Amino acid sequence: GEKPVLLQGAMELEVAVLREALKDCRSCRFGGFAFWEGTLGGRPVVVSRTGIGTAAAAAATAVGCAEFHPSLVLNQGTAGGYPEGVQPFDLVLGERWYNSNALFQSRYGKDYFLDLEALEGESKENEFTGEKPFWHWTDREVLAWLDREGVRWQRGRALVGAIASGDRWNDCPDTIRALEQGTGALCEEMETAGAGETAARFGVPFGAVRVISNNNRTGEPFNPETARALQEWIVRVMG
Ligand code: 5AD
Repeated sequence: GEKPVLLQGAMELEVAVLREALKDCRSCRFGGFAFWEGTLGGRPVVVSRTGIGTAAAAAATAVGCAEFHPSLVLNQGTAGGYPEGVQPFDLVLGERWYNSNALFQSRYGKDYFLDLEALEGESKENEFTGEKPFWHWTDREVLAWLDREGVRWQRGRALVGAIASGDRWNDCPDTIRALEQGTGALCEEMETAGAGETAARFGVPFGAVRVISNNNRTGEPFNPETARALQEWIVRVMG
């Protein structure tokens, strides 16, 4: 039959609305990872609760790809805004991301971004570090589809842009300003890097969409309603 879309969210509050919307829902578990198979608007879908962080997201993506052979991995959830103007209920349609865990610290204490793919390959010394992050791109057709559907998002703005992804939560406004200026990322979260890098290894197209839930630069606290609003939009665009 038709290959499913693997719809991922890290936390229960980031998958509950999707799961409730599934028709003919069957649940299963592999290791600690929960999946729910069903249909949305007649299309086969597997909802995956990945857990928090890049390691959990990578493992859940590997299990999900091996078990369900998806046509697309779509990672979604909450994120913290980087620019002052990127606020709760704005959407970030991920065009690219970088793995903020991947850092090289020089002998003199300066941090550089690290290109893990280059490190794994044949790259010579120093070709795998840089002042700028090493970007990974999402699937262009998936991004174009999400961008077209962005007109149906009425809770805030729908922005196309870059995501910082790693096992880190920044609460310090000065740090966030420096990260925004140094990288151009619109938001930070903790799963896209793990899911995206793993989907690439399985040769499965990958998309990422985040709703801004908080902005720690301006002191806007985490609003869980943003997670529900994003899932409601995804249900509409999938149907
Ligand atoms: N920084 C990092 N992760 C965030 N998340 C939401 N806001 C932020 C933020 N400001 C998401 C992560 C993770 C959980 C803690 O919430 O993706 O799943």
